[in-house]
Amino acid sequence: MKDRIIIFDTTLRDGEQSPGASLNITEKVQIAHQLAKLKVDVIEAGFPMASEGDFEAVKTVAKEISGITIAALARTIPNDIDRAWEAVKYAEQPRIHTFIATSNIHLKYKLKRSKAEVLKTAVAAVKRAKGYTPDVEFSAEDATRSERDFLCEIVAAVIDAGATTVNIPDTVGYSIPAEFGGLIYELHRRVANIDKTVLSVHCHNDLGLAVANSLAAINAGVRQIECTINGLGERAGNASLEEVVMALKTRHDLFELGTRINTKEIYKTSRTVSNLTGMMVQRNKAIVGENAFAHESGIHQDGFLKEKTTYEIMTPESIGLAQSQLVLGKHSGRHAFRDRLGNLGYDLSDTELDKAFKLFKKLADKKKDIFDVDLMALIDDEVRIIPQRFILKYLHIESGSNEEPQATVALRCQDEELKESACGDGPVDAVFKAIDRLTQIPGKLLDYSVRSITRGKDAVGEVRVKICLADKRVVFGKGASTDIIEASAKAYLHAINRAVYEREKG
Ligand code: KIV
Ligand code: ZN
Repeated sequence: MKDRIIIFDTTLRDGEQSPGASLNITEKVQIAHQLAKLKVDVIEAGFPMASEGDFEAVKTVAKEISGITIAALARTIPNDIDRAWEAVKYAEQPRIHTFIATSNIHLKYKLKRSKAEVLKTAVAAVKRAKGYTPDVEFSAEDATRSERDFLCEIVAAVIDAGATTVNIPDTVGYSIPAEFGGLIYELHRRVANIDKTVLSVHCHNDLGLAVANSLAAINAGVRQIECTINGLGERAGNASLEEVVMALKTRHDLFELGTRINTKEIYKTSRTVSNLTGMMVQRNKAIVGENAFAHESGIHQDGFLKEKTTYEIMTPESIGLAQSQLVLGKHSGRHAFRDRLGNLGYDLSDTELDKAFKLFKKLADKKKDIFDVDLMALIDDEVRIIPQRFILKYLHIESGSNEEPQATVALRCQDEELKESACGDGPVDAVFKAIDRLTQIPGKLLDYSVRSITRGKDAVGEVRVKICLADKRVVFGKGASTDIIEASAKAYLHAINRAVYEREKG
């Protein structure tokens, strides 16, 4: 055990204390199941004394999740400890986590108690918790702003009282890595019985140093890290689990310490937590942000395509992401451009590629993000013109709040004019159904988006569709019009025309 780091996840407790994030019981249980798949060692499921909801959540998680330690938080108050036990006792491996502040500021203004009283209360709380379960954790809240002598004294006392884990929180994110590492060394040096417990840290991110402080503490000998998914938590949050874990994995050469985490579940866990808490992950967030494995500059893209390790220190696959992304924009080079077109199924001649690249650069000057559908439109409309097998002649919609929408669509196909009507779930669905009947190429709509590309009430709407054909091929299409139903029909036909062209080309 000493040579691996215990990952104590507090997303459901400290993470849920993030302003703006709150979870109901079902959501907490869903996250707990995902944390179990991620293989964290401890799930802190909540603070049962805080509310009836927290009590029920801890109890349900304790009943449902096996093979993992489930912790319940309690102040050093007897009722809190009893209540924590009532909730967590159903767990296969229950832990009571009790805490009291130890800094002079907290003693004077918040607790209004002397050091001797705090020490006595802490010891009594640990003993009471020990009466319920052998697995008891004690936290010295605001440890980093506490007097060192008192911190050493209380740590020694709670270990004597039976605390199997002692946690040193940087509650207000005040510490600096070298200083925090020094504190951990000092505890090792001065607390005689320190080897009888697992030393833990719990770092907040007020100065953006929570992960750095956690890693410094590991170097100084701690073996449990308290952290949260996406770095959620009070104020600026806690140390982010994914960053700590991937730092240990990526720099194993330095730390020589592993975790039990199944890193391939990291991305999914991050998405689950973000979706359920409603707390968005910032785009450039380390490990799980949208840009974490995206390269835009031409030099980077060129290096990456030659050898991935030129610009990636870990693989997206290692966190459960399918692949890195080369973002095409004005900084991108020819190499990345050709590679992306290849992935989209285009095999252009050198002349076609030259023309396409010039058009792409022009477009990139006007438009920040270039999507696959933009590239396809650029190639199909201006480089290798796709024959328009089906052309929209007109459409007519009947729709209203109390009637089933019906669409009549007329297409020109070579020299013939075809007309069909269909009903649907909405006018767009009705139009797509009518087109399916006319073209005899039914597609399953995988993605549909609409946005305005000009301003005002009479703005032009651009519709993008992604459809899956019967032979499982996926084709994109886009169309624009001031009428979004018409734009939808054009986008759908654009995709169908591409499918016909590709099929005929073989
Ligand atoms: O930040 C903190 O000190 C805490 C304790 C309860 C561990 O969250
Ligand atoms: Zn905290």
